[in-house]
Amino acid sequence: GRVVVVYGGDSAEREVSLISGSAVLASLLRSGLDAHGHDLAVGGLDALEALRPDRVFIALHGRGGEDGTLQGALELLKIPYTGSGVLASALGMDKQRTKQVWRALGLPTPESVILDARADWPGVCEALGVPLIVKPVHEGSTLGISIVDGSESLEAAYQEASRFDAQVMAERFVEGAEYTVSLLGDRVLPAIRVEVPSGFYDYEAKYLSNETLYHLPCGLSSAEEAELGELCRRAFVAIGGRGWGRVDVMRDAEGRFWLLEVNTVPGMTDHSLVPQSAAHAGVDFDALVLDILDTSWE
Ligand code: DAL
Ligand code: MG
Repeated sequence: GRVVVVYGGDSAEREVSLISGSAVLASLLRSGLDAHGHDLAVGGLDALEALRPDRVFIALHGRGGEDGTLQGALELLKIPYTGSGVLASALGMDKQRTKQVWRALGLPTPESVILDARADWPGVCEALGVPLIVKPVHEGSTLGISIVDGSESLEAAYQEASRFDAQVMAERFVEGAEYTVSLLGDRVLPAIRVEVPSGFYDYEAKYLSNETLYHLPCGLSSAEEAELGELCRRAFVAIGGRGWGRVDVMRDAEGRFWLLEVNTVPGMTDHSLVPQSAAHAGVDFDALVLDILDTSWE
């Protein structure tokens, strides 16, 4: 049957999605499938339907693609698609509600509050401690995120994040090392420790810099890595995640793990983490893409 890779779209992560989507499309073509690419921002949903896909590979990041809206449309059109369904996609895109679900289940995630223009800035710093991190609630690739070391810079950070989203949150900053765990079907793939010489794994460090270090194996003992993997699997199941995804985690100086967020359509660029982790587990890019495509039948 025919596979349509949907990418692009009009979110702030459009550029990342164009790279993920073209890598996926090229891979499906290498595997001999009847595959087509579709930029949702250019063609829209009607044009997607006109391509008569038997299944859709979702390679969209951010709102309008990763957030349940496209998933809902495809449900109505009865077209199978890769990855998480409507609820998990919508929850995964909402960092604050994801954390509320985790807290309710007793899973560790740093404290956070929603900010608004009239927030008590010193009070927020006091409640969460400094430094703290300010994030748009529904955004990816670190866009609009700042680390704040006092109430003087908190309002500016709020304004910056507001350019990306109507909802902004502040979260306690966990000092330590950053890990990410990729999930593929029933498999928990090897964890990666990300190390950024500049100190902050931001958009630049994610996609542009060649300085970012990806430690794989991640350096944890096998017991610690198993604990981390199990935590991430539970975190993904908690939001109803399906098929594939990636969970980002901090590990503090005492060795405790803190869940940050779930990505239900993780990046598939050549700097991205899921392809690196899969390769380390013996799953090359083309096999990974076919495994992800298979999740569309779940
Ligand atoms: N949001 C980006 C694409 C990622 O998580 O990889
Ligand atoms: Mg993300």
